[in-house]
Amino acid sequence: MDAGSREHYADAALYDYEYRRRRADVSFYREVARRRLGGPGRILELGAGTGRVTIPLARDGHEVVALDQSEAMLGRLRARVDALPGAVRNRIAILRGDLRSFEVPGGEKGAKFPLAIAVFNVLEHLYTRGELMACLERVAAHLEEGGAFVFDVQLPDLPWLSRDPDRRWARTRFTDPSTGRAMYYSTNHDYDPISQIAMIRLFYDPVDGGPGRVVKLSQRKYFPAELEALVAHAGFRVTARYGDFRFAPLTAGAESQVLVCERVRRR
Ligand SMILES: C[S@@+](CC[C@H](N)C(=O)[O-])C[C@H]1O[C@@H](n2cnc3c(N)ncnc32)[C@H](O)[C@@H]1O
Repeated sequence: MDAGSREHYADAALYDYEYRRRRADVSFYREVARRRLGGPGRILELGAGTGRVTIPLARDGHEVVALDQSEAMLGRLRARVDALPGAVRNRIAILRGDLRSFEVPGGEKGAKFPLAIAVFNVLEHLYTRGELMACLERVAAHLEEGGAFVFDVQLPDLPWLSRDPDRRWARTRFTDPSTGRAMYYSTNHDYDPISQIAMIRLFYDPVDGGPGRVVKLSQRKYFPAELEALVAHAGFRVTARYGDFRFAPLTAGAESQVLVCERVRRR
């Protein structure tokens, strides 16, 4: 399972190339920060990766702690941060850590934030209930009173989950940004309906022949009612739930489930 949460992120330049057109979620989280914080504020970003969302948030004036486990992704984020104007650069703190056990230093009891976010299926890298609970406990420990945790995961797509695992799907041709080589990309997966984990294989094959490579990506799927119950079990309540990054309600055809969660006050 570990390989499935690391291999896809080992080539950070390729990651940025593959998701270069993904913009709606960036605008969404900028707007969430604006609405929740009212002005420049402090944000804890889990699984920040190469800073796709981190940097726009810092440009908006927010101070962001960007946490991730991948040295490759953080290396690319660091290089991008180094090239920013000083004022923006100084608002980003990079922290290597694990979603299940992180500790952001600061204050007597550790740093607290009014907003924590996990963008683009980050929580799908938590493969058991224990792992999700450990992460949510860490989030809760880092939230100020009244603070919110906002994240998105995919809405399980039943036809996609039951696809033939031996066929090659989504075949596309592209030029590898690091090597300049023409490549074919395709994918397939095995889905286990008991653990709800999809073991995805990403195939990269040179167009001119020769050996290709297979990259593992494992994603744990969350069904909506289950996710609400899991979050409640961890002491959060869902205060808003969207089906896209334009604040539309969650409906059957949605690709993502976007949850705004707040701590339930202890009596
Ligand atoms: C799909 S990427 C999202 C990156 C970024 N949020 C974005 O929107 O581009 C998932 C990120 O989660 C990180 N990740 C996966 N498992 C992790 C773990 N256990 N602890 C910390 N980071 C993890 C990966 O390294 C990767 O950067």
